[in-house]
Amino acid sequence: MASAYSLAWDVSLRDRNTFHLDARAHCVATVRDATALPSLLADPALRNLPLMVLGAGSNVLFATDRFEGCLIHLQCDSARIVDDDGEHALVHVDAGFEWDALVDWTLDHGLQGLENLALIPGQAGAAPIQNIGAYGVEVGKFIAAVHVYDRQVAAVDRLTAARCGFGYRDSVFKREPDRRIVTAIELRLPRGGATNLAYAGLNEELAAMGGLAPTPRNVAAAVRRIRQRKLPDPAIAGNAGSFFKNPVITRAVAVELQSRFEGMPVFPASTAAERKLSAAWLIEQAGWRGFREGDAAVSAQHALVLVNLGQATGPQLLALARRVAASVQEKFGVALEPEPRIVSATF
Ligand code: EPU
Repeated sequence: MASAYSLAWDVSLRDRNTFHLDARAHCVATVRDATALPSLLADPALRNLPLMVLGAGSNVLFATDRFEGCLIHLQCDSARIVDDDGEHALVHVDAGFEWDALVDWTLDHGLQGLENLALIPGQAGAAPIQNIGAYGVEVGKFIAAVHVYDRQVAAVDRLTAARCGFGYRDSVFKREPDRRIVTAIELRLPRGGATNLAYAGLNEELAAMGGLAPTPRNVAAAVRRIRQRKLPDPAIAGNAGSFFKNPVITRAVAVELQSRFEGMPVFPASTAAERKLSAAWLIEQAGWRGFREGDAAVSAQHALVLVNLGQATGPQLLALARRVAASVQEKFGVALEPEPRIVSATF
């Protein structure tokens, strides 16, 4: 029987990260069956090597030319309904299932909820790590449980949503990045009910599409159109989506900033005492939209996205990100925090 995992050495990462950075990894382990993880982790060839899971590479900046460890890539990608009471279904999805294909899979099975998260690049297993969110919806709302291999206790675990500590672009998986390997997720999705049109642009998009009804499929189509228009395509200009999180600050600070900076957008946050600012707006106001140095640039299409226009290196993009954050700090007194994982450097 073929081994459930395979190792490759000195591997180019250019096609394994959406920034298309020309970094290399000492080793890449491809895992076809998550039950093989204990034997992979015990493999003498990996002894003393740092390990990191790499899915589609859509939320990572390799700030080094070489990752001197082993990247673990999970390829298992089946999805199945494991429970269904007619109103809700519980769907078990392997970590390697491509996220956008999963959105279509759920719609094909008459399930809704994920339509606002259409076209987000990446694998299903990465979705809970940063609690992916877009157009008024965060995935944490639909996650029933996350299956992991817990390296700290060398055992599998199933974390129910309450144990996942979901927040804005945050979870226990992100806070302890090397502890758990996500092997599958369980989603609890409704079979009916209203779609989420909280994001103002969605209604406008449905209207522009000929006044379409807000069905789950139409909302997914509207979200795809908005994303394609607003966000640079990684196939054309390498990027990892939003490079910074939208800063969350106290309500009092938001009021004070709004009195000084006319037109500053302020959004609700998860608590009444907090507000969320638009990082894109802050960056644009600080004059960075469209800024380019060599092939490292701030997208002219969306100020929150850093892009590799060809031959930029990880250190060049990181240096640009630091300059952008420092200038926003100076102008507004607001700290920007990177959204993607930066390997292996501190911000
Ligand atoms: N804006 C600017 N300049 C720009 C772009 C936007 O000033 O170049 C301002 C506008 O005022 C706009 C506001 O920023 O109203 C918000 O922009 P947008 O609706 O595009 O959303 P975002 O806050 O920039 C967040 C997520 C995105 C997600 C969108 C839609 C974060 C860090 N990013 O971006 O997620 O798609 O909302 O819900 O929360 C990602 O995480 O990679 C990502 C793309």
